[in-house]
Amino acid sequence: MKSGRLIKNSVGKIGTISYKGRDNIVTDVDKRAERMIINIIRSRFPDHSILSEEKGSLDNHSRYKWIIDPLDGTTNFAHAFPFFCVSIALEIAGVVSLGVVYDPTRDELFSAELGRGAYLNGKKIKVSGAKGLAGSFLATGFSYGRRRKDKNIGNFKRLLMKTMAIRRAGSAALDLVYVACGRFDGFWELDLHPWDSAAGFLIVKEAKGKVTQFDNKPYSPYHKNILATNGKIHSRMVSLLKP
Ligand code: IPD
Ligand code: CA
Ligand code: CA
Repeated sequence: MKSGRLIKNSVGKIGTISYKGRDNIVTDVDKRAERMIINIIRSRFPDHSILSEEKGSLDNHSRYKWIIDPLDGTTNFAHAFPFFCVSIALEIAGVVSLGVVYDPTRDELFSAELGRGAYLNGKKIKVSGAKGLAGSFLATGFSYGRRRKDKNIGNFKRLLMKTMAIRRAGSAALDLVYVACGRFDGFWELDLHPWDSAAGFLIVKEAKGKVTQFDNKPYSPYHKNILATNGKIHSRMVSLLKP
């Protein structure tokens, strides 16, 4: 929440922007939010390991690992396009056991604990009831490496012709929790990192959704390609997606 407030209050007041790749930017706000989150975790759990987007891996060989994206949707944030969030997950002995995704613009806190359901601002959420692809509302994203290899264009075209609509809003973590609360019926993306998906992955599963790789094999946040749906349209999407 504290880092979310920092992010919200910094819209339109970014100090520095640097480039991690041709289109991949990071702002001072990403770094300040990350420092804030890591300091809080470190002060309470000094022995835990941390994997965070900008700082990388702080490995304490602990069975507890925090996986942090201090600002998911940085390009949106840098353009004051209000679709970005903070995403934090806790892995215990290799199993994602806790996930929170906070959208500071709408003050929406999505959360889940393994085996205990998924919540939006304290209220239980579940995935949509959409049964077929024809009326479904989907989301996807295009990774920073797309200029080198535009692997997702074919998937986008194929699915666009068979669904009601597809959005590409620019925050994988928010896309995932939007599946969890039934706003989207499904989401897929290639080349994601653990910090983009770890929290959202658990939140979708706890909202009774289904999360796999494109070939329907079990998903973990260390896999690059993710397919998250309400379960009902899953096999149809598996048949149409290519890695
Ligand atoms: C990005 C966003 C975007 C997705 C990219 C991610 P970042 O994260 O989640 O939606 O398409 O693949 O890298 O860089 O804004 O934290
Ligand atoms: Ca991210
Ligand atoms: Ca980020």
